[in-house]
Amino acid sequence: MSDFSNRLLEWYYSNRRILPWREDPTPYHVWLSEIMLQQTRVEAVKGYYARFLDTLPDVAALANASEDTCLKLWEGLGYYSRVRNLQKAAQEVMERCGGELPGTADELKKLPGIGPYTAAAIASIAFGERIPAIDGNLLRIYARLELYEESIRTPAAQKKAAQYFAEQMPERTAARNPLCEDGKGNTDGKGETTSAEGNGGINSNPCGDFNQALMDLGNAVCLPGSTPSCDRCPVADFCRIHKECPGKEVSLPFIPAAKEKKTELLTVFMIRSGDRTAVRKRAARGLLAGLYEFPNATGHLDDKEALAWLRKNQVEPVRIRKIVEAEHIFTHKKWIMQGYEVITDPFAENSIPFIMAGQDEITGKYCIPSAFSAYLDWLKAQ
Ligand code: ADE
Repeated sequence: MSDFSNRLLEWYYSNRRILPWREDPTPYHVWLSEIMLQQTRVEAVKGYYARFLDTLPDVAALANASEDTCLKLWEGLGYYSRVRNLQKAAQEVMERCGGELPGTADELKKLPGIGPYTAAAIASIAFGERIPAIDGNLLRIYARLELYEESIRTPAAQKKAAQYFAEQMPERTAARNPLCEDGKGNTDGKGETTSAEGNGGINSNPCGDFNQALMDLGNAVCLPGSTPSCDRCPVADFCRIHKECPGKEVSLPFIPAAKEKKTELLTVFMIRSGDRTAVRKRAARGLLAGLYEFPNATGHLDDKEALAWLRKNQVEPVRIRKIVEAEHIFTHKKWIMQGYEVITDPFAENSIPFIMAGQDEITGKYCIPSAFSAYLDWLKAQ
């Protein structure tokens, strides 16, 4: 094992984060956690992870669940195509692979929703494959270690980082976890890796641990944005920017400025009849596909235009007034929303072409994405 790897793993075994998916790293647990952790902070994922497993404890349960159940379990996490793909992949795993997730990154990449990073993370953490999982953390660490001054948002940077960490990574059988006394870990005694599970909590899966050590290093030491804590870094001796440009560590990585997001204006109608509020299902394709929303129209409509839109949609208001404005930022666009409260005559409710849902259905049944959270909050306060 390289000195780099030795120092990194030693640090990891005394500083690693205790995380629910690390306690029992079955392929399903690791897969679910990696999908949830895409674009989402660890702290935000913990509760969702536990609730998801309570309801859908294995691949078969996920494959057989209704779409609405899956979406509801994901409500608030965002990027809902992740959970749709997760379920599609679970169905494929049941049909094609007898319910067992494939054990190599190459095979995992063939499943919906599993790209190169996620495939490498699952293959290394759950199956012990010797493959680095290159995400933003590893790119940042690589840029500092190797004084890489070009943009890290390119395939060339990905490739270089992957090569660098692949060279440093321990052999898959070189279990050197000092906390693993019996030395059995994930091997079957013949040098073949069977599964990375075993020996409760800290396991002896050096390749999975190597990737997770870099994730933890990126989270606690080699931080983005602010000056990294190089005095606590186990691999500072190997870091070119630290040695050659001390004090300038934060200047890398180089990330080119992001493009301006496109802005869309929306008018959101909180159409209310008694204690029920109108919701509708979004189209099956496109942004927030298949989720539920409060009816809305493109543009910021004034009172007259709002009334015309409502009438066109068979809603006859008794009273209408402007309420909260809100903003939601997606990956590629931004919504600026103007809300209206619309009180309708309960006797005319049947003509409304939307679902009139009670408060408990809105919280417990329909998955309403967080783009609308200002309006959900408004509704709860009524
Ligand atoms: N981010 C993505 N995967 C992770 C993991 N296994 N542990 C901590 N953070 C992560």
